[in-house]
Amino acid sequence: MNVPFNSLKIQLAPCENDLRAAFERVLERGWFLMGPEVEAFEAEFAAWLGRGACVAMNSGTDALVLALRALGCAGGEVVLPAHTALPCYHAVLAAGCTPVFAEVREDTYTLDPASAARMIGPRTRAVMAVHLYGQPCDLDELGALCAGHGLPLIEDCAQSHGATYKGRRAGTFGALAAFSFYPTKNLGALGDGGAVCCDSGDAETALRLERQYGESSRYHSAVPGVNSRLDEMQAAFLRLRLGRLEADNAARRALAGQYDALLAGTPLILPATAPDRDHVYHLYVVRAPRREALMEHLRSRGIGTAVHYPVPGHRQPLFAQGRAPMRADDLALSERLGAEVLSLPLYPGLEPGQVEEVCAAIRAFYA
Ligand SMILES: Cc1ncc(COP(=O)(O)O)c(C=O)c1O
Repeated sequence: MNVPFNSLKIQLAPCENDLRAAFERVLERGWFLMGPEVEAFEAEFAAWLGRGACVAMNSGTDALVLALRALGCAGGEVVLPAHTALPCYHAVLAAGCTPVFAEVREDTYTLDPASAARMIGPRTRAVMAVHLYGQPCDLDELGALCAGHGLPLIEDCAQSHGATYKGRRAGTFGALAAFSFYPTKNLGALGDGGAVCCDSGDAETALRLERQYGESSRYHSAVPGVNSRLDEMQAAFLRLRLGRLEADNAARRALAGQYDALLAGTPLILPATAPDRDHVYHLYVVRAPRREALMEHLRSRGIGTAVHYPVPGHRQPLFAQGRAPMRADDLALSERLGAEVLSLPLYPGLEPGQVEEVCAAIRAFYA
C-alpha cells in the first residue's frame, strides 16, 4: 500500500462538490477581489476564533509582515524561535526588523520563555510565539514576559487553527495573531491566503489600510501600503472548509493517538502535549535515530515522510557572514532537532490501515 506524505486530493474528496458549487457561485457573481465572500469569511472566522476582527490577506507571511509593521516594530528586534518555518524570519526581515533567535523547549518544541527572556534587549519590539506543529506555546509565561517589558506578543497560528491553551483558542492571546491558509494547513484554501486577527480598533484600522495601498478612500492613500488581498474564490473555499475544521482536527487527533499507541516502545521520541493544551497535529513529528536511513527505508516501501525543519534559522546561509542581521541565543537543541525531526503522514482521509503500515515499517527498521 502506498502512503503518500500528504494528499490534498484525498483531503478534499469529501467536499469536492461543495467546492465546485462555491467556485460557480463566485464565477456567477463576477466579483473576484475583496467582495462579499471575503467580508463574510472575515466575520465568520473572527466569530469562530472569538476575536473582534479578522483582516484577510494574501498569505501567512504577509500577515506576519503587516502585523509587525502595524505594531511599529520596524528598525527594532523581534524575538522568535530558531526551530521554525522559514517564513517567520523572512517576515521579520521584510518588516525591517532584526530576527533574534531563541531556543525551543525540549518536550514541545515551542518557544522557551526562559530563552526568550534572555534575548530581550533595549531594541526588542515584539516577541513572536509560533505554535509549532499544532501545539500552542507557553502563553501564560510569554504573555507575562511581554507585559513585564511592555512588548506586544504576536502569535503565529499558521499551524494551529483550532488548538487551545487552557481551553482558549490560540490566536486570542497576542496583540495580533497571524494565520496562514496555505493549502496544506489545517484550514487551507486552494491557493495562497492569510489573515491577521485582533481586537477591533486601531490595529484593525491600520491593517485594513496597509493591505491595500494605504487607501483611506478610493484612490486616496493615507499611509504606505501594499497589495495583500485575499481573493473571493479563496474566501468562498475557506468559508466552506471552516465548517469542517473541527471534524478535520478530530480526525487528525485520532490518527495521532493511533501513532502514539503503535509507536510506543520504539527508539523514536514521540510528540508530547502539555497537559493544559489541545494539539491539532498540523504535523506529527517524531525524533528519529538514524533518520536518513529510516526515511530511505520508508521511501522504498512507498511511505512518504518530510523534515520540518532541517536547518534552524540562525544556521541559514541567508545569515552567513553577516549578510542579513540577526542575534542568537545558545541553540544546541534547535541544532539537534534539525538533524532528528521527522514528520510522518497525517491528514484527514488517511486510513487507520495506512498508519498501521507506517508503524509496522518503522518497527521493522529498528528491529
Ligand atoms: C509557522 C509558519 N509561519 C508562517 C507561515 C507562512 O505562511 P504562508 O505560506 O501562507 O505565507 C507558515 C507556512 O508555511 C508557517 O508554517
